[in-house]
Amino acid sequence: MESVVRSTDSSLLSKIAKLEKEKQELIQETLSQNRMIVSYERKLSQFEAVKEQRDWLLEEMTKKISELSHFQTELFKAERLSAIGEMSARLAHDMRNPLTIIKNSIELVKLKHAEKIPLDVYRLFLSIENASSRMVFQLDDVLNFVRSSPLDSTLNSLSDILEESLSEIVIPDQITIQKSTKDVSLLCDAEKIKAVFTNLIVNAIQAMDNHGTVLIRFEETDTEVMFTVQDSGPGIPDSAIEKIFEPLFTTKSRGTGLGLPAVKMIIQQHQGKISVSNKPTTFLVVLPKKSN
Ligand SMILES: Nc1ncnc2c1ncn2[C@@H]1O[C@H](COP(=O)(O)OP(=O)(O)O)[C@@H](O)[C@H]1O
Ligand SMILES: [Mg+2]
Repeated sequence: MESVVRSTDSSLLSKIAKLEKEKQELIQETLSQNRMIVSYERKLSQFEAVKEQRDWLLEEMTKKISELSHFQTELFKAERLSAIGEMSARLAHDMRNPLTIIKNSIELVKLKHAEKIPLDVYRLFLSIENASSRMVFQLDDVLNFVRSSPLDSTLNSLSDILEESLSEIVIPDQITIQKSTKDVSLLCDAEKIKAVFTNLIVNAIQAMDNHGTVLIRFEETDTEVMFTVQDSGPGIPDSAIEKIFEPLFTTKSRGTGLGLPAVKMIIQQHQGKISVSNKPTTFLVVLPKKSN
């Protein structure tokens, strides 16, 4: 009897041991499965991150491709524009000389033979002269704008430069030019500053519809030279005042819209500033005395 009990005990014990072992194995398996799940979860989240990165890269690539095609179009336009610019500079230059000859010859004929020329022919001469000088100014607008050359600075009297400029402008009879009595000297590129005066004065004359007054004043401080070109015209409309220094902006049927941009370029080359105000229309130029 006792031996039967002992044998049952030992079989129970061995069963318990076996169950214990199985339990340990199950725990191990659960642990390893948990580890696997964690690792899968980690991989899944990495996968999500990679997916997000891929989407971002795709988006960036699409953006870059469209930027690239935009730049290609811009480059193409810029190349074409610079070719057109070069061509118009050459054309303007080649046309300017024969036109100047026409203009000067007419002027000479008018001067020499004024009494002998009948009034109607004289009027025709006048309109040829006006038309050719208008064309010279338009060509100069193109040349001043397209050709940017380095400054050739020397010490100059502003009055002398102004006189040079006025001698090249046809001033209508009903326009009065009031010049500064004060003179100032300045280290500057005389040809370029002459173009500044010419543009501002021609604009003033055109704005006044051929009658009124243009007032030119010079001022100076220890460090700066200032000049103003003022006219008694109707002023610049509010809608235009922001745009007048932009290339090709014009309100005139025969305008080039290149005069003021060229003026601004020249002033900036001299490290100066140009500004405008209305009532009365006044262009103010400020140039440093030691700009180069
Ligand atoms: N003194 C002025 N009075 C009124 N408007 C002016 C004056 N100067 C310039 N403007 C305006 O600025 C525009 C641009 O001038 P500009 O660049 O010289 O080109 P353009 O004379 O060929 O039109 C002119 O068309 C005109 O509308
Ligand atoms: Mg002009």
